[in-house]
Amino acid sequence: MPLKDCRIIELPKISDPRGNLTFIEGSQHIPFDIKRAYYLYDVPGGSHRGSHAHKNIPQFIVAISGSFDVLLNDGHDKKRFHLNRPFLGLYVCPMMWRDLDNFSSGAVCLVLSSKHYSEADYIRDYQEFLTKIK
Ligand code: TYD
Repeated sequence: MPLKDCRIIELPKISDPRGNLTFIEGSQHIPFDIKRAYYLYDVPGGSHRGSHAHKNIPQFIVAISGSFDVLLNDGHDKKRFHLNRPFLGLYVCPMMWRDLDNFSSGAVCLVLSSKHYSEADYIRDYQEFLTKIK
């Protein structure tokens, strides 16, 4: 899948003086049904996460709090996305190498996934990734 298929999606935002509300419905706001949610938090400054690709699993990444960068790489092109709003998320298609860094203090990274956790879906070796996308 080419990098241009990965994109920022703006989510609904119900603005309210009592506090804003954003919601995400699978196959409505993002292009897959949601089977799993996980989140990264208490990330020490200077830490890196990710550094892998998924063979078949698309994901959607939101900075629920704070900010961080997601660097996507399809083996040909690279693009850095800075996520810093809870109503904006990044759709990451399968077979996309991703690195997450530049976490602000207090950042929370929510990831929605179309499948349950499966280590078999990961490619954790960059050379293997390059070979597979050819
Ligand atoms: P990993 O996906 O490598 O973390 P990152 O978000 O930095 O890409 O996962 C780290 C560890 O957590 C790994 O041992 C697998 C485990 N894990 C689960 O058990 N379930 C999950 O849903 C996820 C995402 C990870």
